[in-house]
Amino acid sequence: MITAVDISEASAGEARRRVAAAGLANVQVLQGDIFNLLFQPESFDHLFICFVLEHLSRPVEALCILMDFVKPGGTITAIEGIMVLHTSILTALRPTKPFRARSSCKGEPAAMP
Ligand SMILES: C[S@@+](CC[C@H](N)C(=O)[O-])C[C@H]1O[C@@H](n2cnc3c(N)ncnc32)[C@H](O)[C@@H]1O
Repeated sequence: MITAVDISEASAGEARRRVAAAGLANVQVLQGDIFNLLFQPESFDHLFICFVLEHLSRPVEALCILMDFVKPGGTITAIEGIMVLHTSILTALRPTKPFRARSSCKGEPAAMP
């Protein structure tokens, strides 16, 4: 099962329309805020984050929140366009052993470079 989330109900609705048009039965599209998602920790094998972090005022915090939803040994793909990844984001993405997202997510960058 693939779960997609967008804070905009209009965007989620458009995504649902496209999912239906493609005949996909294994995709659910939810309206939700990255900063207030109700999934259980370690729920997903993989996260695909696409052109979202660059629109947020607190991208590192968002990434840390999202990382908690990945199962141990899971993976994340983040694709962003205009944003130069701050080193804090790269540090947050660096896996530790055992994998614990929160331990490598301390604070926001003071300013984007
Ligand atoms: C540039 S669009 C990218 C949409 C889609 N991910 C794609 O790649 O086509 C950015 C999207 O981020 C969503 N967004 C912004 N803030 C969000 C948040 N806090 N939680 C979830 N989605 C958010 C917007 O509603 C918008 O649809």
